[in-house]
Amino acid sequence: MRSDFAGSTAQYYAGYRRDLPTDQTARLVAATGLSAGDIALDLGCGTGQLAVPLAEHCSAVVAIDPEPDMLAGLRARRVERVVCVLGDDRDLALLAVPFAAPIGLVTIGNALHWMDEPTTLRNAAALVRPGGAVAVVTQGPPLWLGPAPWQRTVRNALESLYGPVTGNCRTDSSALEERRDMATALGLTTEVLTWTAAYPVTVDWVIGHLGSALGSDQLTRMEELAALLEPLRGEAMMEEVTTSVLIVRGQE
Ligand SMILES: C[S@@+](CC[C@H](N)C(=O)[O-])C[C@H]1O[C@@H](n2cnc3c(N)ncnc32)[C@H](O)[C@@H]1O
Repeated sequence: MRSDFAGSTAQYYAGYRRDLPTDQTARLVAATGLSAGDIALDLGCGTGQLAVPLAEHCSAVVAIDPEPDMLAGLRARRVERVVCVLGDDRDLALLAVPFAAPIGLVTIGNALHWMDEPTTLRNAAALVRPGGAVAVVTQGPPLWLGPAPWQRTVRNALESLYGPVTGNCRTDSSALEERRDMATALGLTTEVLTWTAAYPVTVDWVIGHLGSALGSDQLTRMEELAALLEPLRGEAMMEEVTTSVLIVRGQE
């Protein structure tokens, strides 16, 4: 589905991707032990879906992303104590410098599949203070692969314009198990949390959300996509989202 996160894709991302809700953020914080004096580092931060809610729970969030337009979307939110840094997974090894406060948590939300997974897990785990954690957060399935009848309509619309859409961005349980094994092989300990939440959605939100998952060449067909989804207008639609958090820690 994706080619890049630049330009209009980033704008759709800012407008149509949910921040982690308050109760789920509290759960993540409690499970990872992030404390008020810590720094959190959010790698592949996008427009701040994890960085912004986490800022309430620590002294600062260092939000890292290689796409300037995604970082611009996050900066435009003007959230205190969220510092935007242009960089990617390869920069983690360079961050082994003392910060003003310890790094209590590294989060990677819906982004690890873009990175060198084992190297990133190893480098992230090496950055956190004793007792700190790395949290790999995924939310799935992608809206267009969900089981509800309206989601089948969305999938059919996408496929009629762009061909088969099967990639799930490694949000499935086999990717979770693979990553767990990967961390174990690196000598790291793991724990998994999962929960499911349902969100009401509108046709306009669905169209915007799809825009956030399409590359610039695909966005040229947004009007056609919107027309194909018009029959859903007025329908009561709920999106069920399963969040998985793989918590990784170094041996202590
Ligand atoms: C699907 S978005 C996830 C954004 C946000 N974390 C979330 O949970 O919605 C993936 C993000 O990873 C970033 N990304 C892609 N390759 C990356 C890499 N090698 N290292 C760090 N971030 C990367 C993209 O620019 C994009 O902002």
